[in-house]
Amino acid sequence: MRTVHSLKELRTILRGYRQQGKTIGLVPTMGNLHEGHISLVRKAAEMADVVVTSIFVNPMQFGAGEDLETYPRTLAEDQDKLASAGNTLVFAPSAEEIYPEGLAKQTQVVVPDVSDGHCGASRPGHFEGVATVVTMLFNMVQPDFAVFGEKDFQQLAVIRKLVRDLMIPVDVVGAPTVREDDGLAKSSRNGYLTPQERQIAPAVHQTLQATAGKINDGRTDFQALESEAEKSLGDAGLRPDYFNIVNSQTLKPATAEDRDITILAAAFLGTTRLIDNLSLTR
Ligand code: PAJ
Repeated sequence: MRTVHSLKELRTILRGYRQQGKTIGLVPTMGNLHEGHISLVRKAAEMADVVVTSIFVNPMQFGAGEDLETYPRTLAEDQDKLASAGNTLVFAPSAEEIYPEGLAKQTQVVVPDVSDGHCGASRPGHFEGVATVVTMLFNMVQPDFAVFGEKDFQQLAVIRKLVRDLMIPVDVVGAPTVREDDGLAKSSRNGYLTPQERQIAPAVHQTLQATAGKINDGRTDFQALESEAEKSLGDAGLRPDYFNIVNSQTLKPATAEDRDITILAAAFLGTTRLIDNLSLTR
């Protein structure tokens, strides 16, 4: 497995694969890889001849006061995990390679509507940063398809819309959330948790499940369910950021008529922000 840091090298290698008629799958990541990321790489390896995993802690998607500086950078370990998962090529560019003129002068991709609310409301500019770097990665790698996790449900919706709206010829493939045994969604940010916080963290998934249970029992008073869930997150020792019951397609507040429902949650444990979601069909 090779690792390249420059766009020039990436393009040279990929040109060779394309000339051989090979299909290319892309897995964009910010590194510090865990089983969630690796499941995406395995899925891509089943579907394509060549798998490119990008590792780039994208400064454009971090807000002021967020964890850009402390975000874990573990390239050597990541390379070992990728090699054993069937990855072909790692693209690990520097910020200068991606944004040579700096962030202030960078053209941005804005995905309206679906970027509003939820994480978009709590993290202004976040989805513009994600949409911009993912569009650039699609142009740099020109993959046949790209795999993203359902763990970041709103991000996946943003990417599906940008590909549709900008007519980008890349198939977007979603992959299920990989969890710890106690239900906590795997995340690079789980490493920030103290042992005590780690004990509390599964409450996010448990609250999602409890709420899904109530909806499956026939309740449609979604605002009351949201308040109940926020209270139980608070009681467990988390500080809820949002807990929203939405239509799975539009990500707007669910109505009693909606069949496909997704519950989106974000909560702080100390300074660590955890997100998770659960989809159900009524
Ligand atoms: P990152 O948080 O590193 O996640 C990379 C990919 O792994 C995303 O598609 C994410 O949804 C997926 N993922 C994370 N945890 C997962 C889990 N427990 N199970 C399954 N998939 C999981 O998301 C980003 O990076 C960035 O925003 C990026 C898309 C790379 C743009 O910078």
